[in-house]
Amino acid sequence: MALADTQTVPVPKHIAIIMDGNGRWAKKRGLPRTAGHAAGAETFRRIANYCRRLGVRYLTVYAFSTENWKRSSEEVAGIMKLLRRYLEEALTDMDKNRVCFRFFGDLSRLSPELQALCREAERESTDYDVQVNFCLNYGGRDEILRAAKLYAADLAAGKADPNLTEEGFSRYLYSAGIPDPELIIRPSGEMRTSNFLLWQSAYSEYVFMDVLWPDFREQDLDRAIAEYTRRNRRFGGT
Ligand code: IPE
Ligand code: IPE
Ligand code: MG
Repeated sequence: MALADTQTVPVPKHIAIIMDGNGRWAKKRGLPRTAGHAAGAETFRRIANYCRRLGVRYLTVYAFSTENWKRSSEEVAGIMKLLRRYLEEALTDMDKNRVCFRFFGDLSRLSPELQALCREAERESTDYDVQVNFCLNYGGRDEILRAAKLYAADLAAGKADPNLTEEGFSRYLYSAGIPDPELIIRPSGEMRTSNFLLWQSAYSEYVFMDVLWPDFREQDLDRAIAEYTRRNRRFGGT
């Protein structure tokens, strides 16, 4: 029985996922990498819906990193096209899906159409049960650097407290006001962060899984949550 039907385990309030393995999934099938991204987008739809059923409040997904521009122009264009299609559909089905959208990352490098769709999705989806933070042209280092620059500008303008605290600094991050993720999942077998949520992951529990993202199903999320509940979180204490 799926976790959403039993609800005996307390689910994390904030889950983050590095949606990795699309290219390998396609390669295994002799398909172009873009077919893997299309299958990955389908998995994202399922998993976002399942998180809503589970009562997860925040789902942060890594969709495109600041380093992913190194890929071929065909692959980047394919990913951007899929994102556009996904957002157009999400805007049409907003009431059905009940997902609230936020975007983490420097959107200014995206096409004006895609930027407009992101803004529209944020505007149209205010009060829904689950908030999806979509990381697009996102990098953890870039986020921290941007926050430092914003703080420096506020300080120079006399609008910020010179005695900067961790809490004060985190207000300059894309994730301002959102609790840190308790659980970060990386499918595809890779065991690294690849520049994801560097500040916010200080005490997150990582679960690395061998499944490729397009093959990731509700039961895999159940498994990751079960693993998370077995962890002993000490936060530096005893
Ligand atoms: C993740 O899948 C999607 C993006 C990074 C955009 P990959 O495309 O990285 O898939 P692999 O890691 O090559 O299999
Ligand atoms: C991380 O995956 C970025 C996303 C999933 C969007 P990558 O495939 O880009 O990371 P590396 O290259 O394996 O570190
Ligand atoms: Mg990858």
